[in-house]
Amino acid sequence: MATTINITKRTDTKINNVDFNNLIFGTVFTDHMFYCDYKDGQWQQPQITPYQAMSFDPAARVFHYGQAVFEGMKAYKDEEGKIFLFRPDQNFKRINKSSARLAMPEFPEDFFFEGLTELLKLDSAWIKPGVGNSLYLRPFVIATEPAISASPAKEYRFMIILSPAKAYYAGKVRVLFAEKFSRAANGGVGFAKAAGNYAAQFYPTSLAQKKGYQQVIWTDANSHENLEEAGTMNVFFRINDTLITAPTSDRILDGVTRKSLIQLCDDLNINCEVRNITVSEIKTAAKNGSLKEIFGAGTAAVISPVEAFEHAEELFELPEIENSYGSLLKDSMLKIQHNLAEDKHGWRYEV
Ligand code: COI
Repeated sequence: MATTINITKRTDTKINNVDFNNLIFGTVFTDHMFYCDYKDGQWQQPQITPYQAMSFDPAARVFHYGQAVFEGMKAYKDEEGKIFLFRPDQNFKRINKSSARLAMPEFPEDFFFEGLTELLKLDSAWIKPGVGNSLYLRPFVIATEPAISASPAKEYRFMIILSPAKAYYAGKVRVLFAEKFSRAANGGVGFAKAAGNYAAQFYPTSLAQKKGYQQVIWTDANSHENLEEAGTMNVFFRINDTLITAPTSDRILDGVTRKSLIQLCDDLNINCEVRNITVSEIKTAAKNGSLKEIFGAGTAAVISPVEAFEHAEELFELPEIENSYGSLLKDSMLKIQHNLAEDKHGWRYEV
């Protein structure tokens, strides 16, 4: 496809200053970035430039009303140097679904895929081969129009930045089930990757962290009884030999990893139920020994096992288990992502 992107390359590279064995998630960025402005009712000429700071008017609406959405994706490199994305069509659809909910314009499919492709080709040295290595891709859109009346902007900037990444959580995580605070409400924006959904979690999560928990598992805002998602990842619970995950709704993010795992369960003959799951069901299962594992699933988090949870001042430690479903599914998904296994669902997208 002929590129419509205006490309300005860096003449040098920052890569030699990066310690790829000691990456802190989301703190190191590659040499280039992609952006495209929306004004006069249309998306303008896309640009790739050296990664750099940008200036925005202090009245840009994103600073006042939070019109901002984003995506999380990863690129992988196989031993032959081929680069793959995992189900990027899903991220493309989801960013536009998020944008639509926040009254923002949808981004064109050809710009999205051309932008990703050209950027990844330019910064391909930043993708290290090998399971466990990846390049995290962060497409996002912000309202840039300088005007502080509370209404949707007429101008936006779509951007993609890239950051080499290993796992988001280094080991097992300890979680708190939410009893008071809520992440999302019926009819709200919980299903969208809206920046504000994340900011709203920071305070309750910081309280959980003071008690020694990395994450909160959010419950429904009405009863605080249904377990929903962890904010940085969807959640799976295993009772005896059955995995259970909450159905998506307007409160829960339709995670790409989540839906891929549901399919992989089918492929691996693991029974997976998509249904409401309650705090009392999980506490009873923890008490009678039928709760075998809990894990989070997301692009950044990959699959993160939970080692303990707390609810209403009761602490439950999960047992160590051999051949956990979490590790079987993680192994199976990583092999597909890294071109080490058959891709029978057509999830890999070669760049
Ligand atoms: C992702 O998994 O890509 C996310 O957007 C979660 C974020 C907290 C890093």
